[in-house]
Amino acid sequence: MDRKDGTAEAELRAISAGDVQAFRLRVLRPPKREHAVYPGDDAADTLHLGAFVDAALVAVATVCREAMPGTSDAGAWRLRGMATLDEFRGRGVGKRMVEACVAHAISQGAESVWCSARISVLRFYQAAGFKEQGEPFSLPEYSEHSYVLMKRELRRD
Ligand SMILES: CC(C)(COP(=O)(O)OP(=O)(O)OC[C@H]1O[C@@H](n2cnc3c(N)ncnc32)[C@H](O)[C@@H]1OP(=O)(O)O)[C@@H](O)C(=O)NCCC(=O)NCCS
Repeated sequence: MDRKDGTAEAELRAISAGDVQAFRLRVLRPPKREHAVYPGDDAADTLHLGAFVDAALVAVATVCREAMPGTSDAGAWRLRGMATLDEFRGRGVGKRMVEACVAHAISQGAESVWCSARISVLRFYQAAGFKEQGEPFSLPEYSEHSYVLMKRELRRD
Protein backbone atom coordinates (compact mmCIF):
# COMPACT_ATOMS: atom_id res chain seq x y z
CA MET A 1 0.00 0.00 0.00
CA ASP A 2 1.28 3.45 -0.88
CA ARG A 3 2.08 5.35 2.30
CA LYS A 4 1.49 8.68 0.59
CA ASP A 5 -1.84 8.06 -1.08
CA GLY A 6 -3.88 8.90 2.01
CA THR A 7 -6.13 5.88 1.57
CA ALA A 8 -4.20 3.40 3.70
CA GLU A 9 -6.73 1.43 5.74
CA ALA A 10 -5.14 0.26 8.93
CA GLU A 11 -6.16 -3.01 10.55
CA LEU A 12 -6.72 -2.67 14.30
CA ARG A 13 -6.00 -5.55 16.66
CA ALA A 14 -4.91 -6.24 20.22
CA ILE A 15 -1.15 -6.42 20.79
CA SER A 16 1.07 -7.37 23.72
CA ALA A 17 2.23 -5.03 26.49
CA GLY A 18 5.81 -5.59 25.33
CA ASP A 19 5.05 -4.52 21.77
CA VAL A 20 3.18 -1.42 22.87
CA GLN A 21 5.94 -0.44 25.31
CA ALA A 22 8.58 -0.70 22.57
CA PHE A 23 6.47 1.53 20.31
CA ARG A 24 5.92 4.08 23.10
CA LEU A 25 9.67 4.31 23.59
CA ARG A 26 10.22 4.89 19.89
CA VAL A 27 7.46 7.45 19.24
CA LEU A 28 6.57 9.11 22.56
CA ARG A 29 10.25 9.22 23.61
CA PRO A 30 10.01 9.30 27.41
CA PRO A 31 13.28 10.27 29.12
CA LYS A 32 13.67 6.89 30.81
CA ARG A 33 12.84 3.37 29.60
CA GLU A 34 10.74 2.69 32.69
CA HIS A 35 8.43 5.55 31.73
CA ALA A 36 7.23 3.44 28.81
CA VAL A 37 5.77 0.93 31.26
CA TYR A 38 2.46 1.99 32.77
CA PRO A 39 0.98 0.64 36.03
CA GLY A 40 -2.11 -0.91 34.41
CA ASP A 41 -0.26 -2.51 31.49
CA ASP A 42 -0.52 -6.08 32.77
CA ALA A 43 -4.09 -5.92 34.09
CA ALA A 44 -6.29 -8.63 32.60
CA ASP A 45 -8.91 -6.17 31.34
CA THR A 46 -6.46 -3.65 29.84
CA LEU A 47 -6.51 -3.35 26.05
CA HIS A 48 -3.35 -2.58 24.10
CA LEU A 49 -4.41 -1.76 20.58
CA GLY A 50 -2.20 -1.69 17.52
CA ALA A 51 -2.91 -0.38 14.01
CA PHE A 52 -1.19 -2.25 11.19
CA VAL A 53 -0.59 -1.23 7.60
CA ASP A 54 1.04 -3.86 5.42
CA ALA A 55 1.92 -5.85 8.55
CA ALA A 56 3.80 -2.89 10.04
CA LEU A 57 2.71 -1.43 13.38
CA VAL A 58 1.91 2.25 12.72
CA ALA A 59 -0.06 3.33 15.82
CA VAL A 60 -0.77 2.22 19.38
CA ALA A 61 -3.15 3.09 22.21
CA THR A 62 -3.93 1.63 25.61
CA VAL A 63 -7.09 1.77 27.68
CA CYS A 64 -7.16 0.58 31.29
CA ARG A 65 -9.38 0.77 34.34
CA GLU A 66 -8.19 3.73 36.47
CA ALA A 67 -9.87 6.54 38.39
CA MET A 68 -9.03 10.12 37.53
CA PRO A 69 -6.54 11.76 39.90
CA GLY A 70 -8.29 12.97 43.02
CA THR A 71 -11.35 10.76 42.48
CA SER A 72 -12.34 7.19 43.27
CA ASP A 73 -14.74 6.64 40.38
CA ALA A 74 -14.94 2.89 39.74
CA GLY A 75 -16.53 3.46 36.32
CA ALA A 76 -13.60 5.49 35.00
CA TRP A 77 -11.18 4.18 32.38
CA ARG A 78 -7.98 5.83 31.22
CA LEU A 79 -6.86 6.22 27.61
CA ARG A 80 -3.11 6.64 27.34
CA GLY A 81 0.00 6.12 25.29
CA MET A 82 -1.64 7.21 22.04
CA ALA A 83 0.89 7.45 19.26
CA THR A 84 0.79 7.29 15.47
CA LEU A 85 3.95 7.18 13.36
CA ASP A 86 4.60 10.61 11.92
CA GLU A 87 4.08 9.55 8.30
CA PHE A 88 0.69 8.00 9.09
CA ARG A 89 -0.77 10.92 11.04
CA GLY A 90 -3.79 12.84 9.85
CA ARG A 91 -5.40 9.83 8.15
CA GLY A 92 -7.96 9.01 10.79
CA VAL A 93 -6.04 6.14 12.39
CA GLY A 94 -5.88 7.82 15.81
CA LYS A 95 -9.59 8.60 15.71
CA ARG A 96 -10.42 4.94 14.98
CA MET A 97 -8.09 3.88 17.81
CA VAL A 98 -9.92 6.12 20.29
CA GLU A 99 -13.30 4.70 19.26
CA ALA A 100 -12.06 1.11 19.53
CA CYS A 101 -10.61 1.82 22.99
CA VAL A 102 -13.84 3.48 24.10
CA ALA A 103 -15.81 0.49 22.79
CA HIS A 104 -13.61 -1.84 24.83
CA ALA A 105 -14.10 0.30 27.96
CA ILE A 106 -17.88 0.29 27.43
CA SER A 107 -17.83 -3.49 27.04
CA GLN A 108 -16.20 -3.62 30.48
CA GLY A 109 -18.84 -1.36 32.04
CA ALA A 110 -17.08 2.01 31.79
CA GLU A 111 -19.05 5.18 32.46
CA SER A 112 -16.33 7.58 31.36
CA VAL A 113 -12.93 7.60 29.70
CA TRP A 114 -10.28 10.17 30.60
CA CYS A 115 -6.76 11.03 29.56
CA SER A 116 -3.89 13.38 30.31
CA ALA A 117 -3.74 15.15 26.97
CA ARG A 118 -0.71 16.93 25.66
CA ILE A 119 -1.85 20.51 25.08
CA SER A 120 -0.27 20.24 21.63
CA VAL A 121 -2.92 17.69 20.60
CA LEU A 122 -5.84 19.12 22.57
CA ARG A 123 -7.94 19.46 19.43
CA PHE A 124 -7.47 15.78 18.59
CA TYR A 125 -9.15 14.82 21.88
CA GLN A 126 -11.78 17.54 21.58
CA ALA A 127 -12.71 16.15 18.16
CA ALA A 128 -13.11 12.75 19.86
CA GLY A 129 -15.61 14.12 22.38
CA PHE A 130 -13.29 14.75 25.34
CA LYS A 131 -13.74 17.88 27.47
CA GLU A 132 -11.06 19.67 29.48
CA GLN A 133 -11.11 19.19 33.26
CA GLY A 134 -9.32 21.77 35.37
CA GLU A 135 -6.13 23.65 34.64
CA PRO A 136 -3.10 22.66 32.53
CA PHE A 137 -0.17 21.08 34.37
CA SER A 138 3.33 19.84 33.63
CA LEU A 139 5.21 16.65 34.49
CA PRO A 140 8.82 17.89 34.46
CA GLU A 141 10.32 14.54 35.47
CA TYR A 142 8.58 12.91 32.52
CA SER A 143 8.50 15.38 29.64
CA GLU A 144 8.68 18.99 28.57
CA HIS A 145 5.04 18.92 27.40
CA SER A 146 2.13 20.64 29.11
CA TYR A 147 -0.93 18.52 29.80
CA VAL A 148 -4.57 18.90 30.69
CA LEU A 149 -6.95 16.28 32.03
CA MET A 150 -9.78 15.49 29.61
CA LYS A 151 -12.86 13.35 30.02
CA ARG A 152 -15.50 11.82 27.78
CA GLU A 153 -18.73 10.78 29.46
CA LEU A 154 -20.22 7.63 27.97
CA ARG A 155 -23.93 7.59 27.38
CA ARG A 156 -25.28 4.20 28.38
CA ASP A 157 -28.82 3.57 27.15
C1 LIG B 1 -2.19 12.60 18.59
C2 LIG B 1 -2.02 11.52 17.54
C3 LIG B 1 -2.03 10.15 18.23
C4 LIG B 1 -3.20 11.63 16.56
O1 LIG B 1 -3.14 10.52 15.68
P1 LIG B 1 -3.61 10.60 14.17
O2 LIG B 1 -3.62 9.20 13.64
O3 LIG B 1 -2.81 11.60 13.43
O4 LIG B 1 -5.09 11.19 14.34
P2 LIG B 1 -6.27 11.30 13.28
O5 LIG B 1 -5.71 11.35 11.90
O6 LIG B 1 -7.25 10.21 13.55
O7 LIG B 1 -6.93 12.69 13.66
C5 LIG B 1 -8.25 12.77 14.15
C6 LIG B 1 -8.67 14.22 14.26
O8 LIG B 1 -7.81 14.93 15.15
C7 LIG B 1 -7.16 16.00 14.47
N1 LIG B 1 -5.76 16.04 14.89
C8 LIG B 1 -4.87 15.03 14.83
N2 LIG B 1 -3.66 15.43 15.29
C9 LIG B 1 -3.82 16.73 15.64
C10 LIG B 1 -2.94 17.70 16.17
N3 LIG B 1 -1.65 17.45 16.42
N4 LIG B 1 -3.43 18.94 16.40
C11 LIG B 1 -4.72 19.21 16.12
N5 LIG B 1 -5.61 18.33 15.61
C12 LIG B 1 -5.16 17.11 15.36
C13 LIG B 1 -7.25 15.63 13.00
O9 LIG B 1 -7.23 16.77 12.18
C14 LIG B 1 -8.58 14.92 12.93
O10 LIG B 1 -9.64 15.84 12.87
P3 LIG B 1 -10.91 15.58 11.91
O11 LIG B 1 -11.52 14.28 12.39
O12 LIG B 1 -11.75 16.77 12.12
O13 LIG B 1 -10.35 15.45 10.54
C15 LIG B 1 -0.71 11.74 16.72
O14 LIG B 1 -0.71 13.04 16.22
C16 LIG B 1 0.56 11.51 17.52
O15 LIG B 1 1.04 10.38 17.64
N6 LIG B 1 1.17 12.60 18.04
C17 LIG B 1 2.44 12.52 18.78
C18 LIG B 1 2.28 11.80 20.10
C19 LIG B 1 1.21 12.43 20.96
O16 LIG B 1 1.11 13.64 21.11
N7 LIG B 1 0.37 11.56 21.54
C20 LIG B 1 -0.72 11.97 22.40
C21 LIG B 1 -0.19 12.17 23.79
S1 LIG B 1 -1.48 12.76 24.89
